[in-house]
Amino acid sequence: MVTLELQNLSAFYGGKNAIEGVSVSELRGGELTAVIGPNAAGKSTLFKRIAGLLKGAGSVNLTGAALPACDAIRYMPQDTNANAVLTVYESVLLAAKQGGGWRVHDAELIKIDEILSALQIDELAFRNLGELSGGQRQLVSIAQALVREPEILLMDEPTSALDLYRQVEVLSFMKSLAERKGMLVLIALHDLNHALRYCKNTIVISSGKLIASGPSKDVITPDLMREIYKVEARIERCSAGESHIIIDRVAA
Ligand SMILES: Nc1ncnc2c1ncn2[C@@H]1O[C@H](COP(=O)(O)OP(=O)(O)O)[C@@H](O)[C@H]1O
Ligand SMILES: [Mg+2]
Repeated sequence: MVTLELQNLSAFYGGKNAIEGVSVSELRGGELTAVIGPNAAGKSTLFKRIAGLLKGAGSVNLTGAALPACDAIRYMPQDTNANAVLTVYESVLLAAKQGGGWRVHDAELIKIDEILSALQIDELAFRNLGELSGGQRQLVSIAQALVREPEILLMDEPTSALDLYRQVEVLSFMKSLAERKGMLVLIALHDLNHALRYCKNTIVISSGKLIASGPSKDVITPDLMREIYKVEARIERCSAGESHIIIDRVAA
């Protein structure tokens, strides 16, 4: 099983640290881990540092992966620049071929069909990316990330443009896919109810520092929400027995 450990990670832009001293021990394959924190906290920077797109102090320790880190880890960016001249199908095929030869095998086409239909975007396959809605493009980026079959997938706010149905669909699909494939998924989220519901563990980043990490139910508390989001919140059990966050007001 693949495991990931972050040791004292830092990353900077133009000499200024955007994240500093982030250490998280033993993230495990088969599970979703939420990365939460306010805007500009450093979530995307942390992902880029883990994916090797930014340099900085510290180390990313990967064990149990079949491929070297550069191939095993895949970063799905927050902003998806649509390349308007490609169709959905072409863009997913191009993602599949990145870094490899250009010969296309039947198995790859079957895999693309499976991914598009699992994400319920098969009907968009031959539409141009430039003609899609933001949410549809977000689903295409998920397909592009999944077609590479990463062992570690870093999803940067993958549900931010999706409607309610798609949010729940994508998160439950990712949870079961991670379990089935032993994939380790870090997922930056703003909806803390989703973190509680779908992510076994949660990492909290604020002002470039690690604030907490551990089981989501232990980490996401009214105190934490007051400290990092400046809101007064309650966590209550609903009639179905699930924990739900209720935001009352901004903190005084
Ligand atoms: N390319 C960049 N150049 C300079 N500063 C950046 C760059 N990208 C992000 N930052 C800064 O780094 C900090 C963390 O940003 P980011 O990791 O994108 O936050 P988050 O994803 O949590 O919203 C912010 O203050 C942001 O302005
Ligand atoms: Mg971000």
